[in-house]
Amino acid sequence: MHVELENLLSTAKGADIEVCRKDFEGFEKLFHRFLQVKGPSVEWTKINRPPEDSIQPYEKIRGLPTSVSESLNKLAVVKLNGGLGTSMGCKGPKSLISVRSENTFLDLTVQQIEHLNKKYNTDVPLVLMNSFNTDEDTKKILQKYTHHRVKIHTFNQSRYPRINKESLLPVPEDVGMVGEGSDGWYPPGHGDIYASFYASGLLEQLLAEGKEYIFVSNIDNLGATVDLHILNHLVSQPNGKRCEFVMEVTDKTRADVKGGTLIQYDGKLRLLEIAQVPKAHVDEFKSVSKFKIFNTNNLWISLAAIKRLQEKNEMDMEIIVNPKTLNGGLNVIQLETAVGAAIKCFDNALGINVPRSRFLPVKTTSDLLLVMSNLYRLEAGSLTMSEKREFPTTPHVKLGSSFTKVQEYLTRFESIPDMLELDHLTVSGDVTFGKNVSLKGTVIIIANHGDRIDIPAGSMLENKIVSGNLRI
Ligand code: UTP
Repeated sequence: MHVELENLLSTAKGADIEVCRKDFEGFEKLFHRFLQVKGPSVEWTKINRPPEDSIQPYEKIRGLPTSVSESLNKLAVVKLNGGLGTSMGCKGPKSLISVRSENTFLDLTVQQIEHLNKKYNTDVPLVLMNSFNTDEDTKKILQKYTHHRVKIHTFNQSRYPRINKESLLPVPEDVGMVGEGSDGWYPPGHGDIYASFYASGLLEQLLAEGKEYIFVSNIDNLGATVDLHILNHLVSQPNGKRCEFVMEVTDKTRADVKGGTLIQYDGKLRLLEIAQVPKAHVDEFKSVSKFKIFNTNNLWISLAAIKRLQEKNEMDMEIIVNPKTLNGGLNVIQLETAVGAAIKCFDNALGINVPRSRFLPVKTTSDLLLVMSNLYRLEAGSLTMSEKREFPTTPHVKLGSSFTKVQEYLTRFESIPDMLELDHLTVSGDVTFGKNVSLKGTVIIIANHGDRIDIPAGSMLENKIVSGNLRI
C-alpha cells in the first residue's frame, strides 16, 4: 500500500502535497489496523449492561450554572458538516437544505448560538467540520453570517482513497480526481474529527482561548441545541472527577433499530454499533427490552482529553468497513470510524438519558414534513413541539418514492397540512395536497400506478383511506 500511496502523492501539486501527505499517513494507519483485525471487535459473552450510575437520567443531572456566561465561555459548538444532501435528492452540502421557513440547517444553528451569545453576553464559537465534498460551498455561504454575533471556524476532515474490494489497492490514480464524476475518494466518517481537529491547530487555539469542552452533533439533528444543564453538570464536577466525555442517549422505540447502544466492556463504557453485532445476535441487539437506549450522537467532549489522547496515540475506534458499488460497477470498500466509538478511551465517561426532543434528525422528506408542519414552533433557531399537540409523541409519517427528492416533495404540497392531531400518515404514488388540508388520526393515501390523487384544498381527512383516482 505504501508504494501505491507514494505514487498517488507524486501526482499532487503545490499546497496539495502537504494536505495529501497528512491524509495518506492517517489512511495508512487505518488500513494497517484493518489488515490486522481478525474476527469480531466484541465477544458477545463479554458484553454487560452498563452499571447503574454510568447512564444518568436527565432529570437527575438537571441544575443551572451559578454563572451561565462563565460556563458558556468554556464551550465551543462543533457541527459535523461533511455530508451531502444526496439521499434527499439535493446537490451540495446537506446543511444548506432549507428546512423551516426558508432557513437551512446551518441558518438555524447560527441563530441558536447567536441567541445564546446575545442573551448571556458570551462568545460561544461555532466550528464546522467540513469534508472535501462540502468545504467550498459551505465557505461561500459563511459570508452571509459575517455580521452575526457568532465566530465561525471551519476545518477539513481527511480525504481517503476508496479501496478495490478484490485487490485491496487504492481506486484513484490521481490525487486531483475530485468533484463531479470522480468517486475514488471519501470522507472517512465522523470519527475522523479527533485527528483532523487536532491537526488543524484549532483545538490548540480553542484551548488557548479558555475553551474546555466541545458539544459535537450531527448538523441534521435539529434537537441538538446547547443544553445548559448538561454543560453545568460537566463544568461543576470536582477536578479529579471531571467527566471527559458525555454521550446523550435516549430511550429506544421499535422504530430505532439502527442506532448504537452503550454497553459495559472490559470495565469501560463502550458504544456497540449494529455492524459489530454477530448475525446470530442482531435481533437481540434490536430488541427494546435488552438494549434500552441508543446514541443520539450529541456528545460533550473535553478538549484537553482529546489533546492528551491524540498526543499519546491512544485514541482508538473500531473500524467500520463500508462496502459500496461505484457508478461503473466496481465494488469498493471504504474504511470509516464513528466519533462516539472513542468513548472507551476517555476517563469518567458518562451517558445521559435525555428527552427524545433532543433527537430530531432530518434524514428523509418524511422527517422534513414533520419539522415544516405546525407540530413544531420555531424560536431563536430552535424547534420545539407545539403545546397544541395533545400527546408528546410525533406522528409516524411514511412518504412514498414520489416524495423522496426535496424538489418534487415541495411541488406536491401547496401548503404543509395541519398535523396537530395526526398519528400515522402513509402516502404512496402520484399524490398532491391542496392548501390548508388537515390530517387527523390515521390517514392512508394510495394512488396506484397510472392514477393520481389530488387532495382538495381545505379538506379534512380523519382516519381515512383514500385510493383510486381523484383529480381536481
Ligand atoms: P450521516 O447522516 O451520514 O450518518 O452522518 P447517519 O448514519 O445518519 O448518522 P450516524 O453516523 O449514525 O450518526 C451524520 C452526521 O455526520 C456528518 C454528516 O454531515 C452528518 O451531520 N458526517 C458524516 C461527517 O461530517 N463526515 C463523515 O465522514 C460522515
